[in-house]
Amino acid sequence: MSAAQQQASTSLVLKASGLRKSFGGFVATNGVSFEVHAGEALAIIGPNGAGKSTLFDLLTGRKTPDAGTVELFGEPVTHLPPWQRVKRGIGRSFQVSSVFKSYTALENVQMGLMVSSGQSWGLFGRAANTRRDEALAVLEKVGLVPKRDVPAGDLSYGDQRTLELAVALSTRPRLLLLDEPTAGMGREESRECLRLIRDIATRERLPIVFVEHDMDVVFSFASRVMVLVAGQVLVDDKPEVVRSDARVKEAYFGEDI
Ligand SMILES: Nc1ncnc2c1ncn2[C@@H]1O[C@H](COP(=O)(O)OP(=O)(O)O)[C@@H](O)[C@H]1O
Ligand SMILES: [Mg+2]
Repeated sequence: MSAAQQQASTSLVLKASGLRKSFGGFVATNGVSFEVHAGEALAIIGPNGAGKSTLFDLLTGRKTPDAGTVELFGEPVTHLPPWQRVKRGIGRSFQVSSVFKSYTALENVQMGLMVSSGQSWGLFGRAANTRRDEALAVLEKVGLVPKRDVPAGDLSYGDQRTLELAVALSTRPRLLLLDEPTAGMGREESRECLRLIRDIATRERLPIVFVEHDMDVVFSFASRVMVLVAGQVLVDDKPEVVRSDARVKEAYFGEDI
């Protein structure tokens, strides 16, 4: 192995090879391969229905592929359930909010902490102080300490999404996978949220893979952009290369980028 190859393999965080998933006769993911290395912020973009969420589900383990493999830090995880991938370092949030609305912000993070270390939830009901300080430290990172005792369902929509980020961070991830973390937020709120994610990812040196619609955000934040169209990778390159790619303009953006 050359020095360059060795360098590349030690920095390898995630590797997807030939991922394929169909629903009935419809192929949602059609041979997707890509890698994520340390220090990268990879944006996945593409029109609605391109297969972005399906790809995320294959990476996080909510779905298993019909073919292809997923490796996390050099280990195969293709058939591991989601919680085992969380234990191996995947912190994730989904397009549709998954916070527990009747639990407080703090409790949601406490549950995240417990799940990632294999503690059972049953215990939680009897031990409201479990890992409280750690949970508060996570809420601090996202600025939600003042709202710690508010039931998640009573938080503003933006704060619920931010809480989701906190839950993702509570599992001590070595890789963040965020599917439209700002879905449903207004433009300003979503930019603020992405700034927060970027600051945290930079500070904690967390590689990140995210789906996002706001192209200004994508092109100012991502170190790499992958364009999915009809379940296939159209382009995977540096933002400036993707932005000026004629096929991308045609397939996705129209003329306006
Ligand atoms: N569970 C499912 N059953 C049937 N079709 C699905 C299922 N999940 C996704 N699809 C289809 O796969 C395609 C890709 O969906 P999705 O991955 O959600 O795209 P994106 O996130 O890029 O908008 C869509 O046409 C969608 O209708
Ligand atoms: Mg989606």
